Amino acid sequence: MERAEFFDRLATELDPLAILPEHESRMERLRERLGDLRGKRVLEPGCGAGALSRRLAEWVGRGGRVLAWDPSEGMVAHCRRVVQDFAQVEVAQGTAEEIVIGAGEWDLALCFRVYPHLEKPELFLGRCGDWLVPGGELVVANLEGSESLNAMHAELPGVREDRMPAAEALAALLRELGWQVVAAIDEPEEYYVRARRP
Ligand SMILES: C[S@@+](CC[C@H](N)C(=O)[O-])C[C@H]1O[C@@H](n2cnc3c(N)ncnc32)[C@H](O)[C@@H]1O
Repeated sequence: MERAEFFDRLATELDPLAILPEHESRMERLRERLGDLRGKRVLEPGCGAGALSRRLAEWVGRGGRVLAWDPSEGMVAHCRRVVQDFAQVEVAQGTAEEIVIGAGEWDLALCFRVYPHLEKPELFLGRCGDWLVPGGELVVANLEGSESLNAMHAELPGVREDRMPAAEALAALLRELGWQVVAAIDEPEEYYVRARRP
């Protein structure tokens, strides 16, 4: 099975990719790490069914903006439904590598549970730097560390080859591309890499 088919099939479920109740404390930690997002303009590539998008809508508030997007039509439909009451969120369809976004308009790009699924991560990282304002930041986050995540993916047809690099490896790549890395955490229950734009 191809990756796209895997996610399209997942999108036929009632509530795909919902955050597990036992992971709420991990979400709270992520929120704390992100700091106060009120009024911020946030990009959310690979938003899936909107598990984070809805929360982001609340975190940025009416004065902020979220652009969430995903290549899967079914996921986009779910996401649009969950954020329909939030005018500050726009949902689009496309890949992280190919979407067209104006340069220098966004404060934060948040890759939540998506980085290992990118077809061309380096292309994305390069384009992402252009979308951000000077001083803008990229966060790559997951609710598991790279080892647990990769073990999980290894069991799933469609995403079996999708590998999350160890945080230090991603940090090294980001530095090579000119980003200033400010955090690189890779623990069994947390993956969090944060960097300022080149
Ligand atoms: C594990 S899901 C996570 C979705 C969402 N971020 C969440 O945490 O609920 C990964 C998502 O990445 C999307 N995806 C796959 N390839 C992508 C790409 N090249 N660019 C952006 N998103 C992609 C899939 O369609 C899927 O919705």
